Amino acid sequence: MNKGSKITYLNNSATSFPKPEVVAKALYDSMITLPEMTGRGEEAATAKDKVQSARERLANFLGCHLPEQLIFTSNSSDALNLAIHGFINHLNYSEPVEVITTSNDHNSVLRPLRTLQKEKRVKLRIVEMAKDGSFDLEQLFDAVSPNTRMLAINHLSNVVGTIAELDKVGSFCRDKGIVSVVDASQSAGLLDINVEKFQIDLLAITGHKYMFGPTGIGALYISPGVTLQPIKQGGTGVKSEAPFQPEEMPILFEAGTVNYHGIVALDAGLGFILEKGLKTIRSKSQHLRSLFEEKLKSVDRAILYGPRDEQERGSVASFRLDGFDVAGTDALLRSRYGIIVRSGLHCAPECHQRLGTFPDGTLRASFSYFNSEEDVDLLIGALEEITS
Ligand SMILES: Cc1ncc(COP(=O)(O)O)c(C=O)c1O
Repeated sequence: MNKGSKITYLNNSATSFPKPEVVAKALYDSMITLPEMTGRGEEAATAKDKVQSARERLANFLGCHLPEQLIFTSNSSDALNLAIHGFINHLNYSEPVEVITTSNDHNSVLRPLRTLQKEKRVKLRIVEMAKDGSFDLEQLFDAVSPNTRMLAINHLSNVVGTIAELDKVGSFCRDKGIVSVVDASQSAGLLDINVEKFQIDLLAITGHKYMFGPTGIGALYISPGVTLQPIKQGGTGVKSEAPFQPEEMPILFEAGTVNYHGIVALDAGLGFILEKGLKTIRSKSQHLRSLFEEKLKSVDRAILYGPRDEQERGSVASFRLDGFDVAGTDALLRSRYGIIVRSGLHCAPECHQRLGTFPDGTLRASFSYFNSEEDVDLLIGALEEITS
């Protein structure tokens, strides 16, 4: 077993841990306080207010002044599926629709697009980003043709932490009449996001990573200028006499009972972020990642992936130990040292093709506000011991 009982959690990009106490308390309180559901009868008024106030605060946090344009989903995969399938279904073209994405993107974008490609409804172009995973704006813009209708990008790479320049992507797409889809799974709660200022059309977030919320809750921002075909219909608790899903936002896309407990807890996570300050949280997580990368230089056999110059990046560091099995090292870190990182492709196979780390992938350490320099030292110490 590991040396001592302390667990060092460095897998925050998969899901953040621990959650702030206010989040756990909000979740608990929501379960012992009536009413528990939203939009289901008069006694639900309080719940409805909570969902509405959570929607308003989250919309504001993402730079959207129309809260109804923000719909709750079960995670970012759910939101991205609605964005991608919803837009392509709405176009209903007889010819495949040209869509561009990048090698930095996650399977939550790649798989819906490849599914549509297989059905011959999308002509997909995956633009290769730089070999070190840097975001390459020029390559991206060069790939666009007059037929491109959608551009889907990962705001913050979950493999090497590089950041897409959202403002430039947004204004480029608006100019060309291309719908922009942003996967902000890793960036929401870490980076500044302003959908209106950046002119983003569709932006997906998940609650359980850097938003400090629980699993099972996410959101999709849908710009008023974009039409999506809903992919589900059902009860809404209002307008029950209507034979079809009401057309108004947000219930057009929120069929069934929303994840009330998840929304309340996500809102508490956002409250925590606002209280500490996004900048403070970002600086701390980035500092720990940067410190780890600096210290890793002294570990024999360590190979670090990602851009070498200290450009602004997120809080993930990808590395390998030359001659050591990636999954085996992960297991050893966990069993002998109680250190939890993540190994493998991190659901981003194209990125590893570019980095030259396919198919084994990398070890990934991802830091959060709750980590400390001591955690960095523990990981470095373990890696030194393993390689010595
Ligand atoms: C960049 C990126 N996109 C999408 C996802 C999917 O998030 P979720 O599983 O919450 O839908 C993840 C999570 O691993 C991610 O890192």
